Amino acid sequence: MMNNQEETMEQIQINQMLEEKGFIDETIDPKLKLVEEINRLKKEKNAVILSHFYVEGELQDIADYVGDSLGLAQAAANTSAELIVFVGVHFMAETAKIINPSKKVILPDLKASCSLAESAPANKFAEFKAKYPDHKVVTYINATAALKTMSDIVCTSANAKQIVESFPRDQKLIFGPDKNLGNYINSITGREMVLWDGACIVHEQYSVEKIAKLMDENSDAEFIAHPECEKPVLLLAEHIGSTTSLLNYVQKSNSKKFIVATESGILHQMVKACPDKMFIPAPSIDSTCGCNDCEYMKLNSLQKLYICLKHEQPEVVLPEKVIEMAKIPILRMLENSK
Ligand code: 13P
Ligand code: SF4
Repeated sequence: MMNNQEETMEQIQINQMLEEKGFIDETIDPKLKLVEEINRLKKEKNAVILSHFYVEGELQDIADYVGDSLGLAQAAANTSAELIVFVGVHFMAETAKIINPSKKVILPDLKASCSLAESAPANKFAEFKAKYPDHKVVTYINATAALKTMSDIVCTSANAKQIVESFPRDQKLIFGPDKNLGNYINSITGREMVLWDGACIVHEQYSVEKIAKLMDENSDAEFIAHPECEKPVLLLAEHIGSTTSLLNYVQKSNSKKFIVATESGILHQMVKACPDKMFIPAPSIDSTCGCNDCEYMKLNSLQKLYICLKHEQPEVVLPEKVIEMAKIPILRMLENSK
């Protein structure tokens, strides 16, 4: 048993480690069966594990719910568990906390950020917004909680069209932080939303020339893409949608082969759902970079998940005022997407 002073010392060390590394760096007994241990701790602590489609397959398989950003936000809103373990990226865990302020929300690695969220610092976005006083703000969920406090409504790639169309046609809109998704929604709704200049590092690195060549070489394959991709790539796509939408499409389609322009993690679910079909990751401009992997999503690991559940840290902590303000546009989105 540790005394109070020892406990405080341990917490100070943990806090330092979290600040430096983003996770608790602790040696794990190599004989430990991690999956069994995680399931034991989960039961003992009445925890729920929510994983995004982009994390490693083993982290998807251990989850109570695996899905796209909208599905995960809905799962967070509906859970009765006291402890939410978010295996994804920071803005997703923040969203779960905002929906569940009285619950504890933890994530395996605090440094699991997102290039889109990072592209829009709150102070810069506030200056941008101030230039358009008669515009409402539609914010893609891939944004910080601070940005959401400045928003009228939040959306994901699954419901962006429907959310934008919920505003009267003459209502001027700002859309951020993803300019590619914003451009795509402008093109399918005929709106002229003002766009923040942000992009996803994974989805903007596809080579349209290499994709076209691959399509020529595989005329029996369908090309499908996430709307975070750039316009020239989207113009080639047979189907454009959120990760859930892409997964549903490959199951329904009669095709046996697909070229897939989104993060590599989704292939785990595609292969599981359609073992008789073939999935080819869309090629990047730089063929040596492994760019189909999101460096932030891939910070998650089974080891970090185990340590995070064991210590119930790192935890997402947000100021009460931020929770109160960011909750309004998130709940509006959830209400709109029932
Ligand atoms: P969806 O899973 O909502 O399609 O989002 C993709 C994404 O980039 C999440 O970071
Ligand atoms: Fe962000 Fe792109 Fe990674 Fe999704 S895939 S978390 S949008 S950087």
